[in-house]
Amino acid sequence: MNTLKDVNADKLPKHVAVIMDGNGRWAKQRGKLRVFGHQNGVEAVRKTVENCAKLQIQFLTLYAFSTENWKRPKIEVETLMKLLVSSLRKELKTLDKNNIKLSAIGNINSLPSKAQKELAEVISKTSENTGMTLTLALSYGSREEIELAVKEIAIKVKNNIISPDNIDEAVINTHLYTHFLPDVDLLIRTSGEHRISNFLLWQIAYAELYFIDVFWPDFREHHLVEAILSYQNRERRFGKTSEQLN
Ligand code: FPP
Repeated sequence: MNTLKDVNADKLPKHVAVIMDGNGRWAKQRGKLRVFGHQNGVEAVRKTVENCAKLQIQFLTLYAFSTENWKRPKIEVETLMKLLVSSLRKELKTLDKNNIKLSAIGNINSLPSKAQKELAEVISKTSENTGMTLTLALSYGSREEIELAVKEIAIKVKNNIISPDNIDEAVINTHLYTHFLPDVDLLIRTSGEHRISNFLLWQIAYAELYFIDVFWPDFREHHLVEAILSYQNRERRFGKTSEQLN
């Protein structure tokens, strides 16, 4: 089994994003309720954050709750919010010890006030940390993010703050939730589904995609290493030819 030592430290993805999928099916396989899967998913979050920090990945973004997830049964939404609050509370010390800076993207104002408060506290307490930036996507939807950016830019055009001629990729970037993040280099999705599910649509334009047939609660160090090794074996051409890269 591969370990963190097998990763080439000179060719690391700068920004890794993860669609943590399969908690519900993991629980169902065991004859348990879906929330049991989410509870066990927290351990995979801990391990993945820890392993990415050990590897010195600079940016890790986790899809923890989508705008569409609000449509799930009330009990499931409540459990996810409670897990978020309890995990933030429990992990603050570990985040700090590992020099990790927490941030969040999404419609944070739509979260329950307890979750907003806990989130704000951990973000503020880790804001001076200089190691990995861990970003939680919460009540996040990429189309909503783009819609908001378009609206903000349109208002600036209307008020003569921006000229339409000056709207370029950089301007769009600065109006996205992710304005403080670089583009995604490696996107991992667990559970065997081959979908993007409204996650970072703009930011994954040139990301390498990695799909793994493992439910999120079972995702461990060797799975992460396999994803990174796969990334390291690919040629990223960004539209150029192989010859041009050499
Ligand atoms: C997808 O599995 C998972 C989620 C919607 C939530 C992810 C949340 C966690 C891992 C726990 C809490 C997170 C943090 C950051 C502390 P699914 O429910 O869609 O699974 P299914 O596709 O099998 O139904």
